[in-house]
Amino acid sequence: MTADASISFDRLAHCYDATRGGLARGVAFAPALARWCAPNGPVLEVGVGTGAIAVALRGQLGRAVVGLDLAPAMLAVARERLGPCVGVADVQQLSVPDAAVATLVASWVLHLVGDPAAMLRECRRVVRGDGRLLLVSARGEVSAQDMDAVMRDLTEEIRGRADVRERLEPIASAAGWTIVAEDLTDEERWADSPAAIADRTEARLRVALLDVDDETYDRCARPMVEALRALPDPTRPREHVGRHRLFVLEPQ
Ligand SMILES: C[S@@+](CC[C@H](N)C(=O)[O-])C[C@H]1O[C@@H](n2cnc3c(N)ncnc32)[C@H](O)[C@@H]1O
Repeated sequence: MTADASISFDRLAHCYDATRGGLARGVAFAPALARWCAPNGPVLEVGVGTGAIAVALRGQLGRAVVGLDLAPAMLAVARERLGPCVGVADVQQLSVPDAAVATLVASWVLHLVGDPAAMLRECRRVVRGDGRLLLVSARGEVSAQDMDAVMRDLTEEIRGRADVRERLEPIASAAGWTIVAEDLTDEERWADSPAAIADRTEARLRVALLDVDDETYDRCARPMVEALRALPDPTRPREHVGRHRLFVLEPQ
């Protein structure tokens, strides 16, 4: 990825909530985020998407959460949930004054940004000295189902990624952050069938596949699609229970 090649979710907006847990996901994330928010001051979520997390966090905190995102189609849904306090922006270059934000939230965004180091520097610029950056960026525990045995991490296969904390620590430190804590969100429950995941993968409605060529798709994704469809009763939804890892960062 080049520095400006972030992955906008405009092409996924129509299926985002239905395939990512929707408002229930926000309800699972909000308590852990609220636990680590600065006690007062403005809260900004970058990569706010459809606002599912922000609306739950606003309810939990009892104060406004402002949202910014690259994708107008995602923001159209967020605007219905949060009102006019959402707008288009690139987290690598925010039109926000220095030290204006007390808590900056980025949930499942860092891995999509063209230059994560630039994102972390920009976050440092806009967060005040006693503020915090809360990053949700990886799955923690996930319950095992038959389909999990054949699922493959397509992002890792295609881009060869290391553990998120290993990647985060050096770039966070260089941008002026210290990771002061790691927490887990509440349990999130979702149901998905092997057939539905196979269909979405084949339609390339997955971040890792949005821009890959046919050869990469055949090598990395096709075997998984075939294995999912070969499972017994592939259209039966399997329930999953999982938590997400939350990293708490403070200015050095
Ligand atoms: C996986 S979604 C997460 C949405 C929301 N935070 C949540 O957890 O439900 C990632 C969002 O980040 C946005 N995004 C990607 N790169 C971005 C960037 N450089 N600046 C702002 N938003 C970005 C995408 O458009 C997408 O809406």
